[in-house]
Amino acid sequence: MATAEQLKSLIKSHYDSDNERFSTIALQLAANEARKGHNNLAHQLKNIIDKGRKKPPLKVIPHTNNLSDLIQYSETPNRLSQLIVSDELKERINRIIREYLQKGKLSKHGFSHRRKILLTGPPGTGKTLTASILSNELKIPFYIILVDKIVTKYMGETSAKLRQIFDFIGENTGVYLFDEFDAIGTERSRDNDVGEMRRVLNAFLQFLEQDNSNSFIISATNNINMLDQALFRRFDDVLFYDLPDKKQAIDLIRNKLANFKYDFEIENISTSSVSGLSQSEISQACDDAVKETILSDRLKVTKNLLLEMLLNRRAVYGSKRK
Ligand SMILES: Nc1ncnc2c1ncn2[C@@H]1O[C@H](COP(=O)(O)OP(=O)(O)OP(=O)(O)O)[C@@H](O)[C@H]1O
Ligand SMILES: [Mg+2]
Repeated sequence: MATAEQLKSLIKSHYDSDNERFSTIALQLAANEARKGHNNLAHQLKNIIDKGRKKPPLKVIPHTNNLSDLIQYSETPNRLSQLIVSDELKERINRIIREYLQKGKLSKHGFSHRRKILLTGPPGTGKTLTASILSNELKIPFYIILVDKIVTKYMGETSAKLRQIFDFIGENTGVYLFDEFDAIGTERSRDNDVGEMRRVLNAFLQFLEQDNSNSFIISATNNINMLDQALFRRFDDVLFYDLPDKKQAIDLIRNKLANFKYDFEIENISTSSVSGLSQSEISQACDDAVKETILSDRLKVTKNLLLEMLLNRRAVYGSKRK
């Protein structure tokens, strides 16, 4: 139940036409209910508030508590059709989208849509891209949390910073990507104050567990082996990314060259010229080939040029993996 003070403030804010105050108190009521374990009611209240509020995305992060230092608003027009991953992974991403779009239906039965998600896999395989796609497909703003900076710049007050970030997440529905999550998700982080890292990780897990917003909390990491096992069960879903197989590489090249002319069959690109390269590296090789074609005033990308650019990417980045 709401307290007498809350009820009075709620009614007063209505007659004062103070929508922000009204929403704040209504959110407090929802949080009260959640604390009492009335998750179903709390979710229904949240959904009503979110619908009624229709806040424009907060593009400029407030300087309060230096949040602007740690949260970045990002806008990219990426769509699901651009993402080249296995059918199974695509299906899981589709399920995340479907659950959000029908979250009202789920909350009536006491369920929350899956929204705490761990993405793991090698560099350049589409983790950040996926977070931005979710934001576009669901039409909610995309924010990147600079985990690395929280840990390095605010060492010692990291837990307090995390609390402020989670408060922000609760107040502003969005897709939040905790990028380079390894910085707190592992005990072997740089500077290596293991005790501090443990505390930070525990604080993160606690905030993650308590969070009952509608926001997506997405953590991305390159190295799942380094992550604490306790993490896994706190997430609604763990998605595994991988380098593309031959078919995916071909699909990716076809997508990337779709707006340009080329004089060869993409299917005939050999496996060896793409194997071991990430989606990011193949994308860049395609861009390089198109750029080179434009600069040399040619009309079509040739197979040899594309193969050369793929080889260059392998030389630049491939060596880093060994
Ligand atoms: N699965 C994919 N499908 C299509 N394009 C991709 C995919 N993965 C990567 N790309 C391309 O490479 C770019 C960089 O990928 P992204 O930033 O998503 O990689 P990441 O997995 O987050 O890597 P990191 O671990 O280094 O952060 C994307 O913007 C996109 O152009
Ligand atoms: Mg990334």
